[in-house]
Amino acid sequence: MMRQLATQHAEQTELQWQAQAAIEKAVVEQHAAARETFALFAQTIGQDMAEQNRALVEQSQALAGQLQAIAALVPAEGEQIRSALQQQSAQALTSQESMRFQTDKKLNTLLDTTHRTLASTRENNWAHVFHDTIRQSTWFTAPTLSPGGWAVGYPYCYLLYRALEQAKPQDILELGLGQSTRILSQFAAAHPEMRHCVIEHDPVWMDFCAKEFHLPANSTLVQLDLETKPFMDTEVLQYKGFAEKMAGRKFDLISIDAPLGTTNEKYSRVDVLQLIPDCLKEDFVILVDDYHREPEKQMAELLLETLKKAGIPVASRCYFGNKNTFIIVSESRKFLHTI
Ligand SMILES: C[S@@+](CC[C@H](N)C(=O)[O-])C[C@H]1O[C@@H](n2cnc3c(N)ncnc32)[C@H](O)[C@@H]1O
Repeated sequence: MMRQLATQHAEQTELQWQAQAAIEKAVVEQHAAARETFALFAQTIGQDMAEQNRALVEQSQALAGQLQAIAALVPAEGEQIRSALQQQSAQALTSQESMRFQTDKKLNTLLDTTHRTLASTRENNWAHVFHDTIRQSTWFTAPTLSPGGWAVGYPYCYLLYRALEQAKPQDILELGLGQSTRILSQFAAAHPEMRHCVIEHDPVWMDFCAKEFHLPANSTLVQLDLETKPFMDTEVLQYKGFAEKMAGRKFDLISIDAPLGTTNEKYSRVDVLQLIPDCLKEDFVILVDDYHREPEKQMAELLLETLKKAGIPVASRCYFGNKNTFIIVSESRKFLHTI
């Protein structure tokens, strides 16, 4: 029994050892297999990583190549883009300029139309006032008149008529024969004691007017040729021998509507300036037509300056119409610049 037990024990121990050895072997084998698998795994990962690295490097190199290509392209494209932008901007500017030009043109046309409409309205108003004023006139009894064009306009006719009617001038100087002469000559005809002198350069125009109306005995028509003479820092069209012809004469009404005016010059119709203030009576009225034009404005400015320098107080005002009329009056006649 004991031996049987000992044998059994020995057999069990042997079996245990064998099992132990088998387990150890299996563990070793598993361990080895695991190591191998791990090594393989590590190798794979390493390879993958290496490959990935290589791929990355390749990609980087490709990217760098592309970047270089792009870098090479950018200046060229940039230049293209810049010049395209410049072209677009130039085109935009051009079209903006042209739009501005068109708008300015339209605005100017609109302003011009508005200005002309306003001027016509004023002219028409003065025409009404003039017609009412001359009703039952005792001396303007043949009121055939054609204001406008090259002739004086209605503001001028109105002011002239009122100046004649109210101030009863005795010595009148009129520069430029025409419609204004129709009014002045009728005043002269009704006031034989006064003297009316008209200066005209054009004999053909004198003939033309002679067929239209007659001058009374106290209206003297003087023909003076025109010549361009130095004046201030420029040259101006003037009547030849005007100063000599007018020497010693004094006037209480001067009508300035000639010689032929122009918009190109700095001054126009400067003839009387050389006679001012000597050619003026104490009480006077001066009418300047075409005062909307710069040269006539400049001349009137000089006239005012000369009177001021001479210590002669005056009042002045512009009357608006299709053409503007400027009136300068001595203190005694100042009511005539507010009518
Ligand atoms: C502005 S005009 C004025 C004349 C005048 N004060 C009037 O009211 O008719 C100035 C000059 O132009 C000339 N003139 C006037 N009317 C004209 C006409 N219808 N055609 C050609 N010349 C003219 C004359 O030589 C005149 O002296």
